[in-house]
Amino acid sequence: MSVRRLAEDQFQPASFAFNAENAAWAEATIKKYPEGRQQSAVIPLLMRAQEQDGWVTRAAIEKIADMLGMPYIRVLEVATFYTQFQLKPVGTRAHVQVCGTTPCMLRGAEDLIRVCKSKIHSEPFHTNPDGTLSWEEVECAGACVNAPMVTIFKDTYEDLTPTQLEHIIDRFQAGRGADIKPGPQNDRVYSAPEGGRTTLLEDTGKPTKQEALGGPAAKPAAEEAPAAAVSVPPSNAAKPDTAAVETNPVLKTPSTGKKAAGEKAAKPSLDDPNRPKGVEKPAQPDDLELISGVGPKISGILHELGIFTYKQIAGWTATEREWVDGYLNFKGRIDRDDWVKQAEALSKGVDEYVRVFGKKPR
Ligand code: FES
Repeated sequence: MSVRRLAEDQFQPASFAFNAENAAWAEATIKKYPEGRQQSAVIPLLMRAQEQDGWVTRAAIEKIADMLGMPYIRVLEVATFYTQFQLKPVGTRAHVQVCGTTPCMLRGAEDLIRVCKSKIHSEPFHTNPDGTLSWEEVECAGACVNAPMVTIFKDTYEDLTPTQLEHIIDRFQAGRGADIKPGPQNDRVYSAPEGGRTTLLEDTGKPTKQEALGGPAAKPAAEEAPAAAVSVPPSNAAKPDTAAVETNPVLKTPSTGKKAAGEKAAKPSLDDPNRPKGVEKPAQPDDLELISGVGPKISGILHELGIFTYKQIAGWTATEREWVDGYLNFKGRIDRDDWVKQAEALSKGVDEYVRVFGKKPR
């Protein structure tokens, strides 16, 4: 971790003032604390100053100290201690903070740092030529169970592969950082186990809290997870085999094989006639991750099945949905999340999705 000092004088503005909206907010925030405890507002005020100017200037530190009746050194101590405060100008679209503490390091943080070095700048705290991106290594951000991870402004992006970080950086660089849903970038729900619960497996007949939150269904210990779900890393999701349809088991037309009696709970066969027909990967596949309930891993499995477009999903019949649901071990989540309705709306555009669902996708 780097030594944290204020930026050199040439970067420091002569003065700082909150704009009218932020000044009113700061006044209300200070009033939240009991008489004599106004100093407790120091962190929120520093954060608001950073959000206003992009970084915390010396003038802002002194202004906030005056507002809270604190010695300058006390506010300086706070600003230099916490790495969420930027003490010099950083990328205007993203400042990527890569956690480099032990759990993240053991799970691939060095590869993430390599991505930052190649895509942003070879040195931390230097911006790219456009001034839009910068990066640094920080200590534990408290998301160790989902290591490795990065923080960008107020959000964390977890369970990352280098390919996913490249994608995230590209989106921020394009001014489309909001497209990326923060949190785990695989199908993990919060800090629950990858692939679903492994304990408390009694079937109550109701969706679990995890499933209700959009996570994968619990899988009984004796039941294997879908092979593709564990064998295909998300980074491979965009690279399905492009071999001829006839020789590609993913794309070939399903045979007429039938499920054996009593096979209800088993993973459906790839040869099952109810399996939706796959297609060759189009030049511009749809972003299936815009469908609520589809993360990078599920998107990768769908690609493996030859599913690349909203129109394909919108056209799934009930038996096809049942097949995919069983293949993903989703226990009805495809219908509960209404993938078909979502896909139908997305096939007409994001505006249609907003009109139908009253919110932006993901
Ligand atoms: S070690 Fe990286 S978040 Fe804790």
